[in-house]
Amino acid sequence: MYATHALRVADGQGVFAHLIRHSGDSAGKIAAALAVDEDTLERLLLVLSSFGVLDADGDRYALAAGVRPYVDREDPRYLMGFVDHLISDTSEQFGRLSGYLRAGKAESDRDTPAPFEALYRDDESVGRFLNAMWGLSHHVSHELVALAGLSDARRLIDVGGASGPFSVAALHACPQLRATVFDLPQVRPHLAARAAEHKLGDRLDFAAGDFFRDPLPAGDCLAFGYILSDWDDETCATLLRKAYEACLPGGRVLVMERLFDEDRGGPLATSVMNLSMHVETRGRHRTATEYLGLLRRAGFVDGTVRRSGGDKHLIIGRRAESGSGR
Ligand SMILES: C[S@@+](CC[C@H](N)C(=O)[O-])C[C@H]1O[C@@H](n2cnc3c(N)ncnc32)[C@H](O)[C@@H]1O
Repeated sequence: MYATHALRVADGQGVFAHLIRHSGDSAGKIAAALAVDEDTLERLLLVLSSFGVLDADGDRYALAAGVRPYVDREDPRYLMGFVDHLISDTSEQFGRLSGYLRAGKAESDRDTPAPFEALYRDDESVGRFLNAMWGLSHHVSHELVALAGLSDARRLIDVGGASGPFSVAALHACPQLRATVFDLPQVRPHLAARAAEHKLGDRLDFAAGDFFRDPLPAGDCLAFGYILSDWDDETCATLLRKAYEACLPGGRVLVMERLFDEDRGGPLATSVMNLSMHVETRGRHRTATEYLGLLRRAGFVDGTVRRSGGDKHLIIGRRAESGSGR
């Protein structure tokens, strides 16, 4: 609670932006420059120093080594959007866990809106969520694109592709590729803004739809980034079967997810987000073996796992050139 709130307040009040430009300033100088209360600021700086986010040298503060990318709004690894989402959208939901323990999630959630109705309750919430996803997904996508080996792919369908963290990275790396983000209609302006920002012209387009009601657009590469972890196994099987139908023979599906170790003893970030998935969505995190099983069940062959250096990894399945594959 303390670390997350301190990060969010410091980010929101421009403390990190100030320290990027004026490393080594004192609390007094920072407070004067930002026109904020010095006593409150100093308490924040002391907490952030104790957590290792800042280095303190007497009364002089600087970002600790390695921290800058995650607090710099200009850096693709900026993570404070995710911190904002945790406080604004996730933390209140944790109170629901007691009810889940007593009555189970299905019973407790009987009268609550579906996950994305709650997360997308107004324009501000949509923007906050999509910023958080961009921060979590865009940087690692450069590595995931390379691991996917997309040099022969022509049409990427990014299912639930949000504002395009994966598609944008794929289009930058693969000049022959075109991409369609298939997502809920509220996402359209956010994708259009990223497409314009990255000068992708008509190589990146948007198809509004609901993956439970509509068929998926056809392509030779269907991507599911942090989608299957939002849903239970039966729903994942339905979505992957739709992907199989939409996938051209010889094409592939890319599942990009956090992975539990096979004994589910870690990693810590996956166990933590597995609890988060329980209160925010209807999903969970899985082991690589579980994802390979889901791919096989949908008809995909040659399942392979490729690990990135980050938290998001890749599981690839292929649709055979001929035959139903089932
Ligand atoms: C956890 S985000 C993942 C975003 C992105 N793929 C990534 O890897 O960061 C889930 C995405 O699924 C989309 N989504 C949720 N329900 C959907 C539905 N019924 N039809 C289409 N997209 C949906 C959301 O709008 C959101 O963009």
